[in-house]
Amino acid sequence: MPAITATAPGKIILFGEHAVVYGQPAIAVPVNQVKARAIISPGIGQPRGSIYLQAPDIDLEDNLEDIPQDHPLVIVIKEVLQETGIDQPPAMIIRITSTIPVAAGLGSGAAVSVAIIRALSEYLGVLLSDERVSNLAFEVEKIHHGTPSGIDNSVITYQQPIYFSRGDVPRSPQMEIMRVKKPFTLVIGDSGIPSPTAKTVGDVRKAWQGNKTAYQGLFQQIGRIAENARTAINTGNNDLLGPLMNANQELLEKMGVSSPELARLIHAALEAGAQGAKLSGGGRGGNMIALASPEIAQQIASSLSEAGAVRTIITEVE
Ligand code: PMV
Repeated sequence: MPAITATAPGKIILFGEHAVVYGQPAIAVPVNQVKARAIISPGIGQPRGSIYLQAPDIDLEDNLEDIPQDHPLVIVIKEVLQETGIDQPPAMIIRITSTIPVAAGLGSGAAVSVAIIRALSEYLGVLLSDERVSNLAFEVEKIHHGTPSGIDNSVITYQQPIYFSRGDVPRSPQMEIMRVKKPFTLVIGDSGIPSPTAKTVGDVRKAWQGNKTAYQGLFQQIGRIAENARTAINTGNNDLLGPLMNANQELLEKMGVSSPELARLIHAALEAGAQGAKLSGGGRGGNMIALASPEIAQQIASSLSEAGAVRTIITEVE
């Protein structure tokens, strides 16, 4: 049997993080410059059912059965086996690598899950729909995040800009693949500060419980920003996006999920001529994004590096 490879991109949230957990719409786009990759090759000479896992980025290399069974990588593999109804698969080696920074708001956990689900189901000869792939990845997101909205697994599975809301409880996500009328350029700057999403999402939950009226108001204002941004993107009114990003950032600051480092990067991007800038993802650390005209994107990236960004990525949304 030949080796099978599947990849999945990173992602950033353009508008609506945190509020999306409370039912508001949000917009996310894939970031193809970074990728998670799963390669599955036959475990030659090994007995049926044997799965050997190699994840050099996290120093993990062992037989699946010798890894703690609540490890997210073990859970995603077992989920696929259960989904396909194959409990004694041919012996295999699963190698996972990723260039997506961890705990930085770029969706590394969901991308690793999607790459494994795609490669393993193909290796087992079972075709899964995008919806199934996304739902399986969502189950693993619950371990990473606690109460994920489902936006990460969705944008990474479909690999296109999406307008997403989680729907009512029980969860019934509404997702629309967006048609971007006029492409636009984003500069992503990584503060280099790891910030696990579960922690910021948990802190926002506590703050919301302490003052539901105020937080509900912030969530609704962010929801309206996401709605306006969707119209702007669909109609090619890209001039509106910068101010909407700035307004979204102000509300995220009020919510308590920005940080001095993110504020410094956002300020540097705006000073260098970005049309708008905001944190992206869980906040406190991780990444920020700036909207740039293509001619000055490189200049903004340099200003971000000077202001302390450990990595910058220029990406086109189309
Ligand atoms: O840190 P990220 O990009 O994985 O962000 C998660 C976005 C949140 O809205 C904060 C949480 C969620 O599940 O939607």
